[in-house]
Amino acid sequence: MKMIYDTKQATLFGEKTLERKYLESINGEYSFYRGIEVLNKIVWDFKDFTTQYLTHTFHSYPARFIPQIPLTFIKLFTKEEETVLDPMCGCGTTLIEALLNNRNSIGNDFNPLASLITKVKTTLIDENEFRYFNKKLAVMKRYLDMDYRKVDERINNLPNRKVSKIFNRVVISKLEGIRETLLEIKEEGHNDLFDFGRVALSSTIWSLVENGGGIDVDDLFLKKVKSMQNGLKKMDKIIKNIPEVKVICGDARKLEVETNSIDLIVTSPPYVNALDYYRVHMYNMLWLGMDFDLFRKHEIGGHSHFIANRFRLLSEYLGDMFRSMIEMNRVLKKDKLCVMVVGNSSLEYELIESHKFFGEMGKEIGFKPIKTIFRNIDKTKKYTSADIGKIDDEYILVMQKIDNTNVSARDDNFICEVVRGQMMKFREQIKKVQGTSIRGRKPTKERLLKNIDKISEAIQTIPQDIKICSCNNK
Ligand SMILES: C[S@@+](CC[C@H](N)C(=O)[O-])C[C@H]1O[C@@H](n2cnc3c(N)ncnc32)[C@H](O)[C@@H]1O
Repeated sequence: MKMIYDTKQATLFGEKTLERKYLESINGEYSFYRGIEVLNKIVWDFKDFTTQYLTHTFHSYPARFIPQIPLTFIKLFTKEEETVLDPMCGCGTTLIEALLNNRNSIGNDFNPLASLITKVKTTLIDENEFRYFNKKLAVMKRYLDMDYRKVDERINNLPNRKVSKIFNRVVISKLEGIRETLLEIKEEGHNDLFDFGRVALSSTIWSLVENGGGIDVDDLFLKKVKSMQNGLKKMDKIIKNIPEVKVICGDARKLEVETNSIDLIVTSPPYVNALDYYRVHMYNMLWLGMDFDLFRKHEIGGHSHFIANRFRLLSEYLGDMFRSMIEMNRVLKKDKLCVMVVGNSSLEYELIESHKFFGEMGKEIGFKPIKTIFRNIDKTKKYTSADIGKIDDEYILVMQKIDNTNVSARDDNFICEVVRGQMMKFREQIKKVQGTSIRGRKPTKERLLKNIDKISEAIQTIPQDIKICSCNNK
Protein backbone atom coordinates (compact mmCIF):
# COMPACT_ATOMS: atom_id res chain seq x y z
CA MET A 1 0.00 0.00 0.00
CA LYS A 2 1.22 3.50 -0.78
CA MET A 3 1.83 5.43 2.41
CA ILE A 4 1.42 9.15 2.81
CA TYR A 5 3.06 11.40 5.35
CA ASP A 6 0.99 14.31 6.49
CA THR A 7 3.31 16.83 8.07
CA LYS A 8 0.64 18.55 10.13
CA GLN A 9 -0.69 15.30 11.44
CA ALA A 10 2.90 14.07 11.72
CA THR A 11 1.77 10.52 11.50
CA LEU A 12 1.43 7.85 8.93
CA PHE A 13 -1.63 6.45 7.26
CA GLY A 14 -2.79 4.57 4.27
CA GLU A 15 -4.93 5.89 1.46
CA LYS A 16 -8.13 4.34 2.77
CA THR A 17 -11.04 6.77 2.97
CA LEU A 18 -12.09 5.76 6.47
CA GLU A 19 -8.59 6.33 7.82
CA ARG A 20 -8.44 9.73 6.19
CA LYS A 21 -11.83 10.71 7.60
CA TYR A 22 -10.80 9.55 11.05
CA LEU A 23 -7.56 11.55 10.95
CA GLU A 24 -9.37 14.66 9.75
CA SER A 25 -11.86 14.30 12.59
CA ILE A 26 -9.16 14.42 15.27
CA ASN A 27 -7.01 17.11 13.63
CA GLY A 28 -7.26 20.67 14.92
CA GLU A 29 -7.64 22.38 18.28
CA TYR A 30 -10.55 21.29 20.41
CA SER A 31 -12.05 22.54 23.66
CA PHE A 32 -12.49 19.83 26.27
CA TYR A 33 -16.24 19.52 25.62
CA ARG A 34 -15.85 19.53 21.85
CA GLY A 35 -13.22 16.79 22.27
CA ILE A 36 -15.70 14.69 24.22
CA GLU A 37 -18.27 15.19 21.43
CA VAL A 38 -15.76 14.01 18.84
CA LEU A 39 -15.25 10.81 20.87
CA ASN A 40 -18.94 10.01 20.27
CA LYS A 41 -18.50 10.17 16.50
CA ILE A 42 -15.49 7.89 16.20
CA VAL A 43 -16.03 4.33 14.96
CA TRP A 44 -13.88 2.65 17.58
CA ASP A 45 -13.54 -0.73 15.91
CA PHE A 46 -10.97 0.75 13.49
CA LYS A 47 -11.67 -2.20 11.25
CA ASP A 48 -8.94 -2.80 8.64
CA PHE A 49 -6.96 0.27 9.77
CA THR A 50 -3.18 0.19 9.44
CA THR A 51 -1.87 -0.40 12.95
CA GLN A 52 1.66 -1.59 12.28
CA TYR A 53 3.80 1.24 10.96
CA LEU A 54 7.19 2.81 11.66
CA THR A 55 8.70 1.57 14.92
CA HIS A 56 5.45 -0.07 16.08
CA THR A 57 6.67 -3.14 14.15
CA PHE A 58 9.90 -3.65 16.09
CA HIS A 59 8.96 -6.41 18.51
CA SER A 60 5.99 -8.58 19.33
CA TYR A 61 4.29 -7.84 22.64
CA PRO A 62 1.16 -9.41 24.11
CA ALA A 63 -2.07 -7.45 24.54
CA ARG A 64 -0.82 -4.17 23.14
CA PHE A 65 -3.44 -1.67 22.11
CA ILE A 66 -3.79 -0.24 18.64
CA PRO A 67 -2.07 3.14 18.09
CA GLN A 68 -5.35 4.81 17.16
CA ILE A 69 -6.52 4.65 20.79
CA PRO A 70 -3.73 6.75 22.34
CA LEU A 71 -3.52 8.86 19.15
CA THR A 72 -7.17 9.93 19.44
CA PHE A 73 -6.81 11.13 23.03
CA ILE A 74 -3.42 12.75 22.42
CA LYS A 75 -4.78 14.77 19.50
CA LEU A 76 -8.07 15.74 21.10
CA PHE A 77 -6.98 16.44 24.68
CA THR A 78 -3.40 17.72 24.59
CA LYS A 79 -1.45 20.45 22.84
CA GLU A 80 2.03 20.17 21.37
CA GLU A 81 4.77 20.01 24.04
CA GLU A 82 2.37 18.90 26.77
CA THR A 83 3.15 15.62 28.56
CA VAL A 84 1.48 12.24 28.15
CA LEU A 85 2.05 9.35 30.57
CA ASP A 86 1.53 5.62 30.17
CA PRO A 87 2.29 4.03 33.56
CA MET A 88 2.09 0.46 32.18
CA CYS A 89 3.44 1.24 28.76
CA GLY A 90 4.25 -2.28 27.50
CA CYS A 91 6.07 -1.92 24.19
CA GLY A 92 5.50 1.84 24.01
CA THR A 93 2.48 2.37 21.73
CA THR A 94 1.42 5.54 23.58
CA LEU A 95 4.92 6.99 23.55
CA ILE A 96 5.41 6.49 19.81
CA GLU A 97 2.18 8.33 19.07
CA ALA A 98 3.18 11.14 21.46
CA LEU A 99 6.58 11.41 19.76
CA LEU A 100 5.03 11.54 16.28
CA ASN A 101 2.77 14.35 17.42
CA ASN A 102 5.33 16.50 19.27
CA ARG A 103 4.09 15.73 22.78
CA ASN A 104 6.50 14.96 25.61
CA SER A 105 5.98 11.51 27.03
CA ILE A 106 6.80 9.31 30.00
CA GLY A 107 6.47 5.53 29.83
CA ASN A 108 6.76 3.23 32.81
CA ASP A 109 6.71 -0.56 32.94
CA PHE A 110 8.11 -3.02 35.46
CA ASN A 111 9.00 -5.47 32.72
CA PRO A 112 12.63 -4.67 31.80
CA LEU A 113 12.09 -5.98 28.26
CA ALA A 114 9.06 -3.68 27.82
CA SER A 115 11.00 -0.61 28.90
CA LEU A 116 13.94 -1.56 26.65
CA ILE A 117 11.67 -1.99 23.60
CA THR A 118 9.91 1.30 24.38
CA LYS A 119 13.22 3.15 24.68
CA VAL A 120 14.50 1.76 21.38
CA LYS A 121 11.27 2.50 19.50
CA THR A 122 11.42 6.14 20.56
CA THR A 123 15.16 6.86 20.20
CA LEU A 124 16.26 8.23 16.84
CA ILE A 125 19.76 7.17 15.76
CA ASP A 126 22.17 9.13 13.62
CA GLU A 127 23.06 7.91 10.11
CA ASN A 128 26.80 7.76 11.01
CA GLU A 129 26.06 5.61 14.00
CA PHE A 130 24.21 3.13 11.79
CA ARG A 131 27.19 3.06 9.43
CA TYR A 132 29.49 2.10 12.31
CA PHE A 133 26.95 -0.52 13.47
CA ASN A 134 26.62 -2.10 10.04
CA LYS A 135 30.40 -2.35 9.69
CA LYS A 136 30.61 -4.15 13.03
CA LEU A 137 27.88 -6.56 11.94
CA ALA A 138 29.60 -7.26 8.62
CA VAL A 139 32.76 -8.28 10.51
CA MET A 140 30.66 -10.34 12.89
CA LYS A 141 28.97 -12.18 10.05
CA ARG A 142 32.33 -13.37 8.66
CA TYR A 143 33.53 -14.35 12.08
CA LEU A 144 30.32 -16.20 12.98
CA ASP A 145 30.57 -18.37 9.89
CA MET A 146 33.94 -19.75 10.97
CA ASP A 147 33.30 -20.05 14.60
CA TYR A 148 31.43 -23.28 15.37
CA ARG A 149 34.41 -24.77 17.21
CA LYS A 150 34.05 -22.27 20.03
CA VAL A 151 30.56 -23.51 20.80
CA ASP A 152 31.35 -25.20 24.13
CA GLU A 153 33.08 -22.13 25.40
CA ARG A 154 30.05 -20.10 24.38
CA ILE A 155 27.57 -22.42 25.99
CA ASN A 156 29.49 -22.09 29.25
CA ASN A 157 29.36 -18.31 28.96
CA LEU A 158 25.61 -18.10 28.46
CA PRO A 159 23.82 -15.75 30.84
CA ASN A 160 21.60 -18.58 31.95
CA ARG A 161 22.15 -22.24 31.22
CA LYS A 162 18.43 -23.02 30.81
CA VAL A 163 18.56 -21.40 27.40
CA SER A 164 20.78 -24.15 26.07
CA LYS A 165 17.92 -26.62 26.41
CA ILE A 166 15.71 -25.13 23.72
CA PHE A 167 18.15 -24.31 20.92
CA ASN A 168 20.66 -26.47 19.14
CA ARG A 169 24.42 -25.88 19.38
CA VAL A 170 24.82 -24.02 16.11
CA VAL A 171 22.00 -21.65 16.97
CA ILE A 172 23.38 -21.06 20.45
CA SER A 173 26.81 -20.38 19.06
CA LYS A 174 25.50 -17.83 16.58
CA LEU A 175 23.22 -16.06 19.05
CA GLU A 176 26.02 -15.85 21.54
CA GLY A 177 28.32 -14.46 18.84
CA ILE A 178 25.76 -11.72 18.15
CA ARG A 179 25.53 -10.96 21.87
CA GLU A 180 29.32 -10.67 22.13
CA THR A 181 29.41 -8.22 19.23
CA LEU A 182 26.74 -6.12 20.90
CA LEU A 183 28.76 -6.08 24.12
CA GLU A 184 31.76 -4.84 22.14
CA ILE A 185 29.61 -2.06 20.69
CA LYS A 186 28.62 -1.09 24.21
CA GLU A 187 32.23 -1.12 25.39
CA GLU A 188 33.07 1.19 22.54
CA GLY A 189 30.58 3.67 24.00
CA HIS A 190 27.57 3.27 21.65
CA ASN A 191 24.81 2.68 24.19
CA ASP A 192 21.83 3.46 21.97
CA LEU A 193 23.13 1.03 19.33
CA PHE A 194 23.68 -1.58 22.02
CA ASP A 195 20.03 -1.29 23.07
CA PHE A 196 18.89 -1.21 19.44
CA GLY A 197 20.82 -4.45 18.78
CA ARG A 198 19.45 -6.09 21.91
CA VAL A 199 15.88 -5.47 20.74
CA ALA A 200 16.72 -6.96 17.33
CA LEU A 201 18.31 -9.96 19.06
CA SER A 202 15.34 -10.36 21.38
CA SER A 203 12.93 -10.24 18.46
CA THR A 204 15.03 -12.86 16.62
CA ILE A 205 14.93 -15.19 19.64
CA TRP A 206 11.19 -14.63 19.94
CA SER A 207 10.63 -15.75 16.35
CA LEU A 208 12.84 -18.80 16.90
CA VAL A 209 10.80 -19.81 19.95
CA GLU A 210 7.48 -19.15 18.21
CA ASN A 211 8.17 -20.38 14.68
CA GLY A 212 11.15 -22.66 15.05
CA GLY A 213 13.37 -21.82 12.10
CA GLY A 214 16.60 -23.22 10.78
CA ILE A 215 20.10 -22.37 11.74
CA ASP A 216 20.31 -19.12 9.78
CA VAL A 217 19.76 -17.03 12.86
CA ASP A 218 22.43 -14.54 11.87
CA ASP A 219 20.55 -13.82 8.63
CA LEU A 220 17.31 -13.55 10.58
CA PHE A 221 18.97 -11.10 12.94
CA LEU A 222 20.49 -9.02 10.12
CA LYS A 223 17.13 -8.87 8.34
CA LYS A 224 15.52 -7.67 11.54
CA VAL A 225 18.22 -5.03 12.00
CA LYS A 226 17.65 -3.77 8.46
CA SER A 227 13.92 -3.43 8.84
CA MET A 228 14.31 -1.69 12.21
CA GLN A 229 16.81 0.74 10.72
CA ASN A 230 14.33 1.56 7.96
CA GLY A 231 11.61 2.17 10.55
CA LEU A 232 13.78 4.62 12.49
CA LYS A 233 14.99 6.38 9.34
CA LYS A 234 11.39 6.92 8.16
CA MET A 235 10.46 8.22 11.57
CA ASP A 236 13.43 10.58 11.54
CA LYS A 237 12.16 12.11 8.29
CA ILE A 238 8.69 12.76 9.70
CA ILE A 239 9.60 14.20 13.08
CA LYS A 240 10.38 17.89 12.92
CA ASN A 241 10.83 18.65 16.61
CA ILE A 242 11.98 15.96 18.97
CA PRO A 243 10.00 16.21 22.21
CA GLU A 244 11.23 14.80 25.53
CA VAL A 245 10.79 11.07 26.01
CA LYS A 246 11.47 9.38 29.34
CA VAL A 247 11.23 5.63 29.88
CA ILE A 248 11.25 4.22 33.40
CA CYS A 249 11.54 0.58 34.40
CA GLY A 250 9.48 0.82 37.56
CA ASP A 251 6.35 -0.07 39.48
CA ALA A 252 3.09 1.67 38.54
CA ARG A 253 2.09 1.51 42.19
CA LYS A 254 5.01 3.78 43.08
CA LEU A 255 5.58 6.07 40.11
CA GLU A 256 8.79 8.07 39.88
CA VAL A 257 6.89 10.95 38.31
CA GLU A 258 6.38 14.45 39.66
CA THR A 259 3.05 15.32 41.31
CA ASN A 260 0.59 17.32 39.12
CA SER A 261 2.89 17.25 36.09
CA ILE A 262 0.97 15.20 33.51
CA ASP A 263 -1.57 16.46 30.93
CA LEU A 264 -3.00 13.09 29.85
CA ILE A 265 -2.75 9.45 30.92
CA VAL A 266 -3.54 6.68 28.42
CA THR A 267 -2.87 3.14 29.53
CA SER A 268 -4.00 -0.46 29.21
CA PRO A 269 -3.38 -2.36 32.44
CA PRO A 270 -2.91 -6.12 32.63
CA TYR A 271 -6.06 -8.22 32.98
CA VAL A 272 -6.73 -10.33 36.02
CA ASN A 273 -6.08 -14.01 35.33
CA ALA A 274 -5.18 -13.57 31.65
CA LEU A 275 -1.46 -13.98 31.22
CA ASP A 276 1.82 -13.82 33.06
CA TYR A 277 3.87 -11.32 31.09
CA TYR A 278 7.13 -12.61 32.48
CA ARG A 279 6.49 -16.06 30.95
CA VAL A 280 5.75 -14.76 27.46
CA HIS A 281 9.23 -13.41 26.83
CA MET A 282 11.17 -15.56 29.26
CA TYR A 283 13.73 -16.85 26.74
CA ASN A 284 14.59 -13.51 25.22
CA MET A 285 14.87 -12.01 28.70
CA LEU A 286 17.18 -14.80 29.82
CA TRP A 287 19.38 -14.26 26.80
CA LEU A 288 19.60 -10.56 27.45
CA GLY A 289 20.51 -11.32 31.07
CA MET A 290 17.41 -9.58 32.44
CA ASP A 291 16.13 -10.20 35.94
CA PHE A 292 12.63 -11.42 35.20
CA ASP A 293 12.28 -12.79 38.71
CA LEU A 294 11.98 -9.33 40.22
CA PHE A 295 9.32 -8.46 37.64
CA ARG A 296 7.52 -11.76 38.33
CA LYS A 297 7.22 -10.82 42.00
CA HIS A 298 5.72 -7.42 41.27
CA GLU A 299 3.69 -8.16 38.17
CA ILE A 300 0.06 -7.04 38.42
CA GLY A 301 -2.56 -9.58 37.30
CA GLY A 302 -0.21 -12.60 37.39
CA HIS A 303 -2.11 -15.79 38.00
CA SER A 304 0.21 -18.59 39.07
CA HIS A 305 -0.86 -18.42 42.70
CA PHE A 306 -4.05 -18.55 44.81
CA ILE A 307 -4.94 -21.73 42.95
CA ALA A 308 -7.41 -22.94 45.61
CA ASN A 309 -9.48 -19.76 45.58
CA ARG A 310 -9.15 -17.67 42.42
CA PHE A 311 -11.26 -14.85 43.89
CA ARG A 312 -8.25 -13.98 46.04
CA LEU A 313 -6.55 -13.06 42.76
CA LEU A 314 -9.34 -10.56 42.20
CA SER A 315 -8.90 -8.76 45.53
CA GLU A 316 -5.14 -8.73 45.06
CA TYR A 317 -5.60 -7.32 41.53
CA LEU A 318 -8.07 -4.66 42.68
CA GLY A 319 -5.65 -3.63 45.44
CA ASP A 320 -2.76 -3.33 42.97
CA MET A 321 -4.85 -1.45 40.43
CA PHE A 322 -6.26 0.88 43.08
CA ARG A 323 -2.75 1.75 44.24
CA SER A 324 -1.78 2.45 40.62
CA MET A 325 -4.87 4.64 40.17
CA ILE A 326 -3.98 6.65 43.29
CA GLU A 327 -0.57 7.25 41.74
CA MET A 328 -2.19 8.22 38.42
CA ASN A 329 -4.35 10.73 40.28
CA ARG A 330 -1.31 12.15 42.12
CA VAL A 331 0.74 12.82 38.96
CA LEU A 332 -2.11 14.05 36.73
CA LYS A 333 -2.97 17.76 36.60
CA LYS A 334 -6.46 18.75 37.75
CA ASP A 335 -9.25 18.58 35.12
CA LYS A 336 -7.15 16.36 32.83
CA LEU A 337 -8.12 12.93 31.52
CA CYS A 338 -7.08 9.45 32.63
CA VAL A 339 -7.98 6.83 30.01
CA MET A 340 -7.86 3.13 30.89
CA VAL A 341 -8.38 0.41 28.29
CA VAL A 342 -9.30 -3.05 29.54
CA GLY A 343 -11.41 -6.05 28.54
CA ASN A 344 -13.48 -8.39 30.67
CA SER A 345 -11.91 -11.37 32.41
CA SER A 346 -13.24 -14.56 33.87
CA LEU A 347 -12.65 -16.27 37.23
CA GLU A 348 -14.28 -19.51 38.42
CA TYR A 349 -17.03 -19.25 35.73
CA GLU A 350 -17.82 -15.64 36.70
CA LEU A 351 -17.46 -12.56 34.53
CA ILE A 352 -15.08 -9.89 35.82
CA GLU A 353 -15.89 -6.47 34.40
CA SER A 354 -12.67 -4.69 35.33
CA HIS A 355 -13.66 -1.36 33.80
CA LYS A 356 -16.62 -1.15 36.21
CA PHE A 357 -14.39 -1.81 39.21
CA PHE A 358 -11.94 0.86 37.98
CA GLY A 359 -14.75 3.42 37.48
CA GLU A 360 -16.11 2.78 40.99
CA MET A 361 -12.70 2.85 42.67
CA GLY A 362 -11.77 6.00 40.73
CA LYS A 363 -14.69 7.87 42.33
CA GLU A 364 -13.11 7.25 45.78
CA ILE A 365 -9.99 9.22 44.84
CA GLY A 366 -11.14 12.22 42.81
CA PHE A 367 -11.75 10.75 39.36
CA LYS A 368 -15.08 11.41 37.64
CA PRO A 369 -16.07 8.79 35.06
CA ILE A 370 -16.97 10.74 31.89
CA LYS A 371 -17.80 7.88 29.55
CA THR A 372 -17.11 4.24 28.79
CA ILE A 373 -16.57 3.29 25.16
CA PHE A 374 -17.11 -0.30 24.08
CA ARG A 375 -15.08 -1.52 21.13
CA ASN A 376 -14.88 -4.74 19.16
CA ILE A 377 -11.35 -5.88 18.49
CA ASP A 378 -10.65 -6.47 14.79
CA LYS A 379 -10.66 -10.23 14.19
CA THR A 380 -7.05 -10.15 13.02
CA LYS A 381 -5.93 -8.52 16.24
CA LYS A 382 -7.73 -10.69 18.80
CA TYR A 383 -5.70 -12.64 21.25
CA THR A 384 -6.52 -15.69 23.31
CA SER A 385 -5.83 -16.48 26.92
CA ALA A 386 -5.98 -20.06 28.16
CA ASP A 387 -7.91 -18.95 31.24
CA ILE A 388 -10.34 -16.43 29.89
CA GLY A 389 -10.75 -17.51 26.29
CA LYS A 390 -10.81 -15.27 23.27
CA ILE A 391 -10.58 -11.59 24.10
CA ASP A 392 -12.57 -9.93 21.36
CA ASP A 393 -13.80 -6.73 22.89
CA GLU A 394 -12.59 -4.12 25.31
CA TYR A 395 -13.72 -1.00 27.12
CA ILE A 396 -12.18 2.44 27.13
CA LEU A 397 -12.88 4.07 30.46
CA VAL A 398 -12.50 7.86 30.30
CA MET A 399 -12.18 9.62 33.65
CA GLN A 400 -11.47 13.22 34.53
CA LYS A 401 -9.46 14.19 37.57
CA ILE A 402 -11.71 16.57 39.47
CA ASP A 403 -9.88 16.43 42.80
CA ASN A 404 -6.48 15.70 44.28
CA THR A 405 -6.63 12.54 46.31
CA ASN A 406 -5.31 13.03 49.80
CA VAL A 407 -4.51 9.35 50.30
CA SER A 408 -1.24 7.60 49.65
CA ALA A 409 -0.86 4.51 47.47
CA ARG A 410 0.83 2.91 50.49
CA ASP A 411 -2.16 3.33 52.79
CA ASP A 412 -3.00 -0.36 53.28
CA ASN A 413 -6.03 0.35 55.49
CA PHE A 414 -7.68 2.56 52.91
CA ILE A 415 -6.88 0.17 50.04
CA CYS A 416 -8.29 -2.68 52.10
CA GLU A 417 -11.50 -0.81 52.89
CA VAL A 418 -12.19 0.14 49.25
CA VAL A 419 -11.36 -3.36 47.92
CA ARG A 420 -13.61 -4.90 50.58
CA GLY A 421 -16.48 -2.63 49.47
CA GLN A 422 -15.97 -3.75 45.84
CA MET A 423 -15.74 -7.43 46.74
CA MET A 424 -18.91 -7.25 48.84
CA LYS A 425 -20.82 -5.67 45.96
CA PHE A 426 -19.48 -8.38 43.68
CA ARG A 427 -20.68 -11.07 46.11
CA GLU A 428 -24.17 -9.54 46.09
CA GLN A 429 -24.27 -9.80 42.29
CA ILE A 430 -23.12 -13.42 42.34
CA LYS A 431 -25.73 -14.24 45.00
CA LYS A 432 -28.38 -13.10 42.51
CA VAL A 433 -26.98 -14.86 39.45
CA GLN A 434 -24.12 -17.31 39.11
CA GLY A 435 -22.21 -18.67 36.12
CA THR A 436 -21.93 -15.36 34.26
CA SER A 437 -18.97 -16.58 32.20
CA ILE A 438 -19.38 -20.29 31.48
CA ARG A 439 -18.10 -20.27 27.88
CA GLY A 440 -19.34 -23.71 26.86
CA ARG A 441 -18.31 -25.50 30.06
CA LYS A 442 -20.89 -27.28 32.23
CA PRO A 443 -20.38 -26.65 35.93
CA THR A 444 -23.09 -27.99 38.28
CA LYS A 445 -25.40 -25.66 40.18
CA GLU A 446 -23.67 -26.74 43.45
CA ARG A 447 -20.28 -25.85 42.03
CA LEU A 448 -21.50 -22.40 41.03
CA LEU A 449 -23.14 -21.80 44.43
CA LYS A 450 -19.78 -22.55 46.05
CA ASN A 451 -18.49 -19.36 44.47
CA ILE A 452 -20.46 -17.32 47.00
CA ASP A 453 -18.53 -19.01 49.85
CA LYS A 454 -15.28 -18.61 48.00
CA ILE A 455 -15.86 -14.88 47.59
CA SER A 456 -16.69 -14.66 51.32
CA GLU A 457 -13.41 -16.43 52.11
CA ALA A 458 -11.55 -14.06 49.78
CA ILE A 459 -13.12 -11.09 51.59
CA GLN A 460 -11.67 -12.43 54.87
CA THR A 461 -8.14 -12.55 53.50
CA ILE A 462 -8.15 -9.08 51.85
CA PRO A 463 -5.84 -7.47 54.48
CA GLN A 464 -3.06 -9.94 53.67
CA ASP A 465 -3.79 -10.32 49.94
CA ILE A 466 -3.62 -6.63 49.09
CA LYS A 467 -0.19 -6.20 50.67
CA ILE A 468 2.49 -5.58 48.03
CA CYS A 469 4.11 -8.94 47.28
CA SER A 470 1.64 -10.55 49.66
CA CYS A 471 1.54 -14.12 48.53
CA ASN A 472 4.20 -16.57 49.63
CA ASN A 473 4.70 -18.43 46.41
CA LYS A 474 5.06 -15.27 44.32
C1 LIG B 1 -1.74 -4.74 28.48
S1 LIG B 1 -0.01 -4.50 28.69
C2 LIG B 1 0.27 -2.89 28.07
C3 LIG B 1 0.42 -2.89 26.60
C4 LIG B 1 0.66 -1.50 26.02
N1 LIG B 1 -0.54 -0.68 26.03
C5 LIG B 1 1.17 -1.61 24.58
O1 LIG B 1 0.49 -1.16 23.67
O2 LIG B 1 2.24 -2.22 24.39
C6 LIG B 1 0.12 -4.30 30.44
C7 LIG B 1 1.52 -3.98 30.94
O3 LIG B 1 1.51 -3.83 32.36
C8 LIG B 1 2.81 -4.16 32.81
N2 LIG B 1 2.84 -4.32 34.28
C9 LIG B 1 2.46 -5.39 35.03
N3 LIG B 1 2.68 -5.14 36.33
C10 LIG B 1 3.22 -3.89 36.42
C11 LIG B 1 3.64 -3.06 37.51
N4 LIG B 1 3.59 -3.48 38.77
N5 LIG B 1 4.11 -1.83 37.22
C12 LIG B 1 4.20 -1.39 35.93
N6 LIG B 1 3.81 -2.13 34.86
C13 LIG B 1 3.32 -3.35 35.11
C14 LIG B 1 3.14 -5.42 32.03
O4 LIG B 1 4.54 -5.62 32.00
C15 LIG B 1 2.56 -5.08 30.66
O5 LIG B 1 3.55 -4.55 29.83
